[in-house]
Amino acid sequence: MTESSPDARVIEKIAGFFQDSRWLQGYVRGKLRADPAYRAVLTELRRRPQPVLDIGCGLGLLSFYLREHGFAEPILGVDLDGSKIGRAAAIAAREYEGLRFSVCDAREVSPDFSAVVMLDVLHYLEDDSRRRLLEAIAAKASPGGLVLIRNATKDRSLRYALTYLEELFVRAIGWIPGGGIINFPTPDAVASAFRHGGFAEEIRPLWGRTPFSSHYFVFRRIGGDSE
Ligand SMILES: C[S@@+](CC[C@H](N)C(=O)[O-])C[C@H]1O[C@@H](n2cnc3c(N)ncnc32)[C@H](O)[C@@H]1O
Repeated sequence: MTESSPDARVIEKIAGFFQDSRWLQGYVRGKLRADPAYRAVLTELRRRPQPVLDIGCGLGLLSFYLREHGFAEPILGVDLDGSKIGRAAAIAAREYEGLRFSVCDAREVSPDFSAVVMLDVLHYLEDDSRRRLLEAIAAKASPGGLVLIRNATKDRSLRYALTYLEELFVRAIGWIPGGGIINFPTPDAVASAFRHGGFAEEIRPLWGRTPFSSHYFVFRRIGGDSE
């Protein structure tokens, strides 16, 4: 992306929502510039537009990014962190239509949406909770429905070591509340809930200009108008 590209303008607009905190503004700008996850989700949703549940939505950056790129379907963002949800909801009320944000634990969410997105959330969940959530998402998916997951995965690489160190750092500075487990999944642990038939699957590295071991998982329930 060049500085004058549509994405550069979108990034500056979204970063501008966080003018009251120079730290947050810098974080948002850096995240949107370096991390290809939002564009990857946009690409998939443009092919198959449908209402979206964004689990672990944080500050709502994905929703804002999608709206700035013309994605008009309803989006519900949920997160455990009330301060992030408060910020996201305040921006959405001022700037956009059809975005809702709610404080909710991923372990209790009802994934009753045709598209479910989870970016960098699964490693906060214990094995059992993660498996139950993924199985519930798979069970609720309707024909043509999408499940888009980006998460660092556990392996023996230097990227994984750096990912783990970064996770310790964000907890130490209080950006992510500490105390919870750090439980990066293997690719199979993410995909197994979707391998009982009925889903097309794509898994690929998606780390962009970050040093992390991030992978992108696309599961599409077979059927629907697009078949
Ligand atoms: C690394 S951030 C990613 C934020 C967002 N998905 C993005 O990519 O911009 C992880 C988010 O997961 C949230 N989170 C962690 N555990 C959660 C849980 N059990 N339920 C809901 N959200 C959770 C954190 O509060 C944080 O906002």
